[in-house]
Amino acid sequence: MSQDKLIIFDTTLRDGEQSPGASMTKEEKVRIAKALEKLRVDVIEAGFAIASVGDFEAVRAVAQVVKDSTVCSLARALDADIDRAAEALKGAVSPRIHTFISTSALHMAHKLQMSPEMVLEQAIRAVKRARQYTDNVEFSPEDAARSDVDFLCRVVEAAIEAGATTINIPDTVGYKIPHLFGQLIRTVRERVPNSDKAIFSVHCHNDLGLAVANSLSAVMNGARQVECTINGLGERAGNAALEEVVMAVRTRQDIFPCQTTIDTTQILNCSRLVSNITGFPVQPNKAIVGTNAFAHESGIHQDGVLKNRETYEIMRAEDVGWTTNRMVLGKHSGRNAFKTHLKQLNIEFKTEEELNAAFTRFKALADKKHEIYDEDLQALMTDVSTGE
Ligand code: KIV
Ligand code: ZN
Repeated sequence: MSQDKLIIFDTTLRDGEQSPGASMTKEEKVRIAKALEKLRVDVIEAGFAIASVGDFEAVRAVAQVVKDSTVCSLARALDADIDRAAEALKGAVSPRIHTFISTSALHMAHKLQMSPEMVLEQAIRAVKRARQYTDNVEFSPEDAARSDVDFLCRVVEAAIEAGATTINIPDTVGYKIPHLFGQLIRTVRERVPNSDKAIFSVHCHNDLGLAVANSLSAVMNGARQVECTINGLGERAGNAALEEVVMAVRTRQDIFPCQTTIDTTQILNCSRLVSNITGFPVQPNKAIVGTNAFAHESGIHQDGVLKNRETYEIMRAEDVGWTTNRMVLGKHSGRNAFKTHLKQLNIEFKTEEELNAAFTRFKALADKKHEIYDEDLQALMTDVSTGE
């Protein structure tokens, strides 16, 4: 049923790195960029070239090695930023400059100390300057979600007129709730007369835990690029998690009018790489990439999954890079899972009584331990056979 392509723009190396404590070396960024290319993300935001010499070098290194994804650098709406971004992107097969300026009254008055007219002029100038270097220019009205909608539409229209090919609507502080964010995307697309000349993108932060939900709501309302990060890494509470956005769209193709071209089997690999490099652990119950995401402990669930995986699984673990789903033996596990697991260890029972005795001992042990490992089972079975 899907027709449109949903562009996946990964900003792990830029917004993800803004997560306190997550800074990465140039070499680490190149390793992650290569993994993202293998994941087949469409755009890799490699950094903010003017931020530091290290950032410039990292953008340049990524631009030189990545061939199959577009490589992007962030730049404020300032000449020097744009020139620096263009310089860093020189070697890229497919470069993009992403320029931004705040459009909310709060940011314009207190952060920029600029009038709305000045902001509008600066946005136009920045997009035009970026277009001198590349025809792939993204413009973001920062804090769009808290901006006056009339002014936002004026800026977006002017940015498209100036040559922006992607318009990114950020929920910079994670303030929106899903139906209102979806509505905003629809309103801007409907009100801006030249909106069909650009791809609409969204960039959601997770301050209220709604980054993925807001992004998906935007997609339902016409956004065709989602900016996201591996494991949801990012400034403060993070950005929308790439793995969750991608798998939601893929799993619910019955409702989403678009699809990504991500190789989902690379998701776990990317998640582990980013976690290892940044030292940010992935919580066990994290969707898609947490160790418990495809684990079943309760007897009822295990029995169901052993009969038909779809009873308690909406996706296949293998499709996101796990070798298989996992039956965890613990105090909630049932006889069927216990027996199946032992069979995999080549332990079989001659009689039903033997199985019952072993299962009783297993339950007693499970009451004392959180998770029962294969070594525990081997020991338990030795005890059963020697009658100890
Ligand atoms: O959160 C934000 O608004 C940003 C922009 C620079 C896109 O990161
Ligand atoms: Zn951001």
